[in-house]
Amino acid sequence: MHALGIDIGGTGIKAAPVDVAAGKLLADRKKIDTPRPAVPDAIAEVVHELTTSFGWSGPAGITFPGVVTSGVTRTAANLDKAWIGKDARELLTKAVGGPVTVLNDADAAGIAEMKFGAGVGEHGTVLMLTFGTGIGSALFINSTLVPNTEFGHIELRGHDAEKRASEHAKELHDLSWEKWAGRVQEYIQHMEALLSPDLFIVGGGISKQSAKWVPLLTGIRAPIVPAALLNDAGIVGAAMATLSFAG
Ligand code: BGC
Repeated sequence: MHALGIDIGGTGIKAAPVDVAAGKLLADRKKIDTPRPAVPDAIAEVVHELTTSFGWSGPAGITFPGVVTSGVTRTAANLDKAWIGKDARELLTKAVGGPVTVLNDADAAGIAEMKFGAGVGEHGTVLMLTFGTGIGSALFINSTLVPNTEFGHIELRGHDAEKRASEHAKELHDLSWEKWAGRVQEYIQHMEALLSPDLFIVGGGISKQSAKWVPLLTGIRAPIVPAALLNDAGIVGAAMATLSFAG
């Protein structure tokens, strides 16, 4: 079973065809910068361009960096507000020219990690957190996803947590690894106090450099492991969702 995976992010839109049974990309992924303003039609055009660049006709799974219920995008913290209330499934089905499943980006990454990556064989409560333009979250209870958890917007020291501890915040405020890891640690401790997960999986672009910051995180009971699929998790999970997710 093959499906196209497309990962819409705050800075880039990435795509590749995926062997869904193996969790592997079938071709090198392609990336196009997220257009600004990141309005629905401009993004749909990029989705169309990526689809045709692979000569793709068939099912596609598409991630979105916000809440998605029944194909409708409900929030857009890091994209244009015109997405709020938009029927993204309808818009993107036209752009792809085939059946489309739309789901939250962190949920997609989590689905891929649970099946093929750092979460394989893990039961109980697993919380995947992605650190990028924002902070995404995917919560699993005995391998079942609780979609759209949005834990990146928990309040920390009077601010949206992602404004303090995302990868973007590290860059924006030019934080050292130590300083940023301190903020991430405080955030994860807060999540642990609320949910007591058995495992944390940390992903997003910055998971490529996990050796620089994951060892700095202390005072957290549950193990913290970096995502195994790194930045491909969103693409793989999006493609997987075409089979299993009623998004
Ligand atoms: C959004 C989430 C998204 C996360 C990562 C947050 O700002 O609200 O839906 O998963 O960023 O992109």
